[in-house]
Amino acid sequence: MLDTNTLKKDFPILEMKVNGKDLVYLDNAATTQKPEKVLAAVDTYYRICNANVHRGSHTLSDNATSLYERSRESVAKFIGAKPTEIIFTRNATEGINLVAYSYGLATLHAGDEILIGGWEHHSNLVPWQEVCRKTGARLVYTYPDNQGLFDFADFCSKLGARTKIVAVGHASNVLGTIYPVAEIAAEAKKVGALVVVDGAQSLPHLPVNIKQLSCDALAFSGHKMLGPMGIGVLWLDESLQESLSPFLTGGGMVLEVDENKASWEKPPHKFEAGTPNVSGAVGLAAAIDYIKTIGIEEIRKHEIELSSYALQAFADLARGFQNLRILGPMDATKRTGLISFHMQGVHAHDVSAILDQRGIAVRSGYHCAMPLHTHLGIGPTVRASWYLYNSQADITALVSGISDAKKILLA
Ligand code: ALA
Repeated sequence: MLDTNTLKKDFPILEMKVNGKDLVYLDNAATTQKPEKVLAAVDTYYRICNANVHRGSHTLSDNATSLYERSRESVAKFIGAKPTEIIFTRNATEGINLVAYSYGLATLHAGDEILIGGWEHHSNLVPWQEVCRKTGARLVYTYPDNQGLFDFADFCSKLGARTKIVAVGHASNVLGTIYPVAEIAAEAKKVGALVVVDGAQSLPHLPVNIKQLSCDALAFSGHKMLGPMGIGVLWLDESLQESLSPFLTGGGMVLEVDENKASWEKPPHKFEAGTPNVSGAVGLAAAIDYIKTIGIEEIRKHEIELSSYALQAFADLARGFQNLRILGPMDATKRTGLISFHMQGVHAHDVSAILDQRGIAVRSGYHCAMPLHTHLGIGPTVRASWYLYNSQADITALVSGISDAKKILLA
């Protein structure tokens, strides 16, 4: 396992006390904490590098442009892509909106279908609903099986000549399940569908190489992988970039403008309208450097070990407590580092509030995945999610906090 005592020292916020207790941060699927190196990269950028990019011919602007473009190269290398295929966005949601509007709105017609995972986060669901509303296309859902795993037969039965887009989350932010994107993409290609992947919950946790995924678009967020908020990435296959019209237009993405029309810069700049989040891109590159120093494979191993430990602890807890339902597969290798659970007769927010009094931060609610909760026939859930700096002691504190919550709330 990773040496979390040493790692935690890199994250100033983890030294904090919350409600008089040592902070146990287990809300990493919502956002991760930032290491000193990322904080320093953003701070240094504003102190000695700040200028607008691709717009000036002075030294500071040139330096800022180089830093911004070097950040693009780091991101590209991290996922095995070309720098020109990396579009900086605000977050995964914006990346998916770009594909939904630039591709979906332009190509879909009444009767066409978008096949999406029943485990989708709203970011990879609501934009498609909007595109369907505007084009007359319809959404078709493939739900996971009763363990939360991919239901290949169901997926294949719903894939057909009408399927124009397949949009799936690589990993569920509620079930934790990792979905087989490469196999999904291979089937989707047989019917000529475009494959869009929401990688917000996978990029921080697993080695991801876009060549192995064989998808057409992959969106993810910087803040879920130790980077700053407000910076995201859309990887868009080169072959699509020329044909797509930009989703946002304005300064920075134009080649020439006259009174009535404009022409576009080459991709990826064509898709980056307005002043970009340069400090965010620089911070994301610093986060990637940090992840690389530890090793994404090592992070994955650490999470599997922690998840095994947590699944066992939850299973022990559930033995004396029939009201507790643990969501997702019980095999740690099939999931990322999180567990969501439902306690019958208890509101998730009450559990979260009791944990918070003990300094333990988890998320409660629908986790921006309401259709999945409806499909599972449950209300709000509690989700604990770990990352490279979490230890077995954090999981033990969580389980003991849940046990206390049960005594208080079901007394
Ligand atoms: N997508 C984030 C989560 O799952 C916000 O909490």
